[in-house]
Amino acid sequence: MSQEQHRNALVLGAGGGLGQAIVAQLLTDTSIDRVIAVSRNAQTEDLSSHWMSSNRLTWITSEYTEPAMSEIVAQLMPLAGTLSRVCICHGLLHNDSIWPEKRLEDISGDALHEIFHANTVIPSLWFKLLYRLLAGKQRCVVATLSARVGSIGDNRVGGWYAYRASKSALNMMLKTIAVEYARRAKNVKLISFHPGTTDTALSKPFQASVHKDSLFSTVFVAERLTGIMDRAEVDGQLSYVDWDGKTIPW
Ligand SMILES: NC(=O)c1ccc[n+]([C@@H]2O[C@H](COP(=O)([O-])OP(=O)(O)OC[C@H]3O[C@@H](n4cnc5c(N)ncnc54)[C@H](OP(=O)(O)O)[C@@H]3O)[C@@H](O)[C@H]2O)c1
Repeated sequence: MSQEQHRNALVLGAGGGLGQAIVAQLLTDTSIDRVIAVSRNAQTEDLSSHWMSSNRLTWITSEYTEPAMSEIVAQLMPLAGTLSRVCICHGLLHNDSIWPEKRLEDISGDALHEIFHANTVIPSLWFKLLYRLLAGKQRCVVATLSARVGSIGDNRVGGWYAYRASKSALNMMLKTIAVEYARRAKNVKLISFHPGTTDTALSKPFQASVHKDSLFSTVFVAERLTGIMDRAEVDGQLSYVDWDGKTIPW
């Protein structure tokens, strides 16, 4: 394992519940020089009041069109070879016009497109664009927020067609990217991470059916994730693991 000499971290889709907690957790690690966060939204007051005096956090506000993402990566090129942690947090389950499907009749082409775009297409584009920034000698761990419901083997209850399928497709993209990164960016370890049901806007409408011991805080999950990233071996493989570090079947 190579030394982690210049440790910088990047959080993409940083404005959500888990994204913000991961940014805050990375900032508590004083061996990380700088955390760069990218979101469609401005930094929240919570995060800025806590880290106002910190010049270690850079917050970039952007849309996720491919040209805009490309521009962000170009802006970050001076940091090439220094990133040791990357977290990709994008995820869409519901919004004003989309609700998880309960039955076949609920399937909508527009919703499938929108959910696949947020959950599968945008993370995949980041991997394409980030390759030049990440490849090098620095040990680098990239965690993408996936979900256990993306497991085909674990699908016993059905429903949630678009979200499930977009996370399964994300896993296949990540597995395929891992094969290529193992050849072209041997210093990078990829993780597909299931946080468990976590108290954020994404899970809010479904929390009533979750036992209180099974609903995690974002702080707990961010600590778990960064611990898993710290310990991960760079082995050219994609690991699909949960918050407890346990492997999930594909
Ligand atoms: N909470 C849970 O119980 C749970 C369970 C399993 C998996 N996950 C996964 O964990 C990740 C984080 O979710 P969260 O719970 O923190 O949810 P959240 O608070 O709703 O945050 C959603 C995140 O996704 C991004 N996003 C939302 N809509 C998008 C769109 N249309 N295009 C691009 N990006 C979009 C947001 O980025 P901006 O910063 O730009 O707003 C934000 O970072 C997701 O991948 C989710 O699927 C969550």
